[in-house]
Amino acid sequence: MTKTIGLICGSLRKDSYNRIIAKSLTDLNDSHHFHFIEINDLPLYNEDIEISGIPETVTSFKSAVQDVDGIIIVSPEYNSGIPGVLKNALDWASRPRDSSVLSRKPVGLIGATPGGLGTAFAQMQIRQILEAMQVHVLPFQKVLISQVDKKIDSDQKVLTDEQTKRYLQQYLHQFIHWIDHTPTLD
Ligand SMILES: Cc1cc2nc3c(=O)[nH]c(=O)nc-3n(C[C@H](O)[C@H](O)[C@H](O)COP(=O)(O)O)c2cc1C
Repeated sequence: MTKTIGLICGSLRKDSYNRIIAKSLTDLNDSHHFHFIEINDLPLYNEDIEISGIPETVTSFKSAVQDVDGIIIVSPEYNSGIPGVLKNALDWASRPRDSSVLSRKPVGLIGATPGGLGTAFAQMQIRQILEAMQVHVLPFQKVLISQVDKKIDSDQKVLTDEQTKRYLQQYLHQFIHWIDHTPTLD
């Protein structure tokens, strides 16, 4: 069955490599629907805002998360960890805790960097954070894209490396399968 997959990019940069990788997923598979869930307009999380009234940007972000069958997060690594903007978005999505829109949601993780370690440290952190939120993160498989600047065409803003395309295709295939087979432990 056709799935709707949300893409969250952990970088706000206009020419973000991670956004180019996320965009390439939409070109690699035309059997499913993909759309970006933007996080750039979210205010910094503050519990006072929840009390005084949730802003429209937060409400529509949460609805977008709720409406998709699964989410793939494509994120850089900052100082060996999760970028603050992504953590902020996850914190908003985690609230209120007993009805979090991310709870039990199938989530996949991809990361790209011009560096050599493929965002491994950030992905470990993101996985740990999502686990605390009872998110169904696709286990075992990791997509750690190193030297990403050599794998894309910066002018055209497209992924060109054939091996990376194949990895992403395999990952997508497994993620779609994961959506249908997440454990029901309630
Ligand atoms: C504040 C900051 C910290 C960074 N720390 C890391 C890091 O720990 N590991 C890494 O591989 N790259 C690091 N980088 C380099 C990023 O991977 C690089 O800027 C990348 O292009 C960001 O992703 P984007 O192109 O999707 O915006 C850092 C960049 C910034 C701005």
